[in-house]
Amino acid sequence: MLNKKLITLMNEQINKEFYSAYLYLDFANIYEEKGLLGFANWNKVQAHEEIDHGMLIYRYLQDNNAEITLMTIEAPNVKHAEAINGADIKGEKLLGLLKAALKHEEYITSLINNMYCVAQELKDYKTMQFLDWFVKEQGEEEGSLQNLLIKTQLFGSDSSGLYTIDNELAARTYMPLQ
Ligand code: FEO
Repeated sequence: MLNKKLITLMNEQINKEFYSAYLYLDFANIYEEKGLLGFANWNKVQAHEEIDHGMLIYRYLQDNNAEITLMTIEAPNVKHAEAINGADIKGEKLLGLLKAALKHEEYITSLINNMYCVAQELKDYKTMQFLDWFVKEQGEEEGSLQNLLIKTQLFGSDSSGLYTIDNELAARTYMPLQ
């Protein structure tokens, strides 16, 4: 039987993961409008992965006979779109979007860490083991965004560099978890 506090946090996390999918779809749409189809593809793949993350927690709650409460998913932050409205998506504008994605992942990491901390306090070893995957995944997600940010800072300021990065991101494919 899962602890009530943990059940609440896990229900909230389902919502945050689905919100993450919304956010990446919003980013993808911005890139698509600006013709950066590789960046758009990368973000669409990420959106699929976020839904998988939410579904993992959803199933964990079901498997443990815990109550699932699906909450309203917040609209993504349209400020990102407004910030680049009508402008060339290059230089600071592009870096701003990547920084926003990284900041979001750091926030998600803090939520995962908090859940882990609660499970640890409760000596809920089964949930700690379940959350281990998420801890690792967050490290990878932050890492890949940091790498993309650095690469874009170094090489994305001219058209040919940006074209190369965009082509690389076009190669990302979605691999379902299950
Ligand atoms: Fe599900 Fe991007 O963390």
